[in-house]
Amino acid sequence: MENKNPLDILESIPNDVFDKTRPYVELIMRYNCAMLEVKTKLDVLNNQLSLVNDRNPFESINCRIKSPKSIIEKLKRKNFPLTVESIEKNLNDVAGVRVICSFPEDIYMLAHRLSSQDDINVIEVKDYIKNPKKNGYRSLHLIIEIPIFLIDEKKYMRVEVQFRTIAMDFWASLEHKVRYKKENSEHDDEIYEELKACAEEISRLDIRMQEIRNKIYKN
Ligand code: GTP
Ligand code: MG
Repeated sequence: MENKNPLDILESIPNDVFDKTRPYVELIMRYNCAMLEVKTKLDVLNNQLSLVNDRNPFESINCRIKSPKSIIEKLKRKNFPLTVESIEKNLNDVAGVRVICSFPEDIYMLAHRLSSQDDINVIEVKDYIKNPKKNGYRSLHLIIEIPIFLIDEKKYMRVEVQFRTIAMDFWASLEHKVRYKKENSEHDDEIYEELKACAEEISRLDIRMQEIRNKIYKN
């Protein structure tokens, strides 16, 4: 079967458009490399820790690059200039990695092991597990900087890493769906309180499951 190169499409772009978009394409390529580096680091930790402990510290890992539409929307929303330089200077979440763990303790263990690697700079930590958002959202967010080695330079790129348990992810996915689907209604307050109550219930479940695991592994 013929293997089509996805970059073939670039040949159909007029030269002037190609030249204008090139800096953007290069920036996204760099974010993509940084995202792969972070994913590889986490995969390496998962490989080694699962050999040592006989269980996986995370269940799954998902990577995404922010779409051009979302990048522009965010720059506009925050009143930043709409330039390629501004993307790199002002946005922390162009490259995003989401790590889904089974237990809350695994989140802190993995985040700590990743953050203490000597080529990683931690720019910001938002612990929405210890300090949940008002709506009940829980996750641990790290903004880190990681070097990528290009043909003739070493460049630090920022990546947002979100750590959640399966239970927190379950809540966040459904909350996201409900939030983006809903029209304003007279039930808004009720829905908000209900979602928050669900987040708290889910958090108690996480703690109970963690305690069960700790009992099993102690004996
Ligand atoms: P954004 O402008 O949305 O990126 O927020 P921020 O720059 O203030 O960062 P924050 O750490 O609050 O949120 C970053 C990301 O976390 C979001 O893009 C979502 O993926 C996720 N997130 C934050 N808050 C919520 C929430 O209330 N519900 C859900 N489902 N996801 C959230
Ligand atoms: Mg974001």
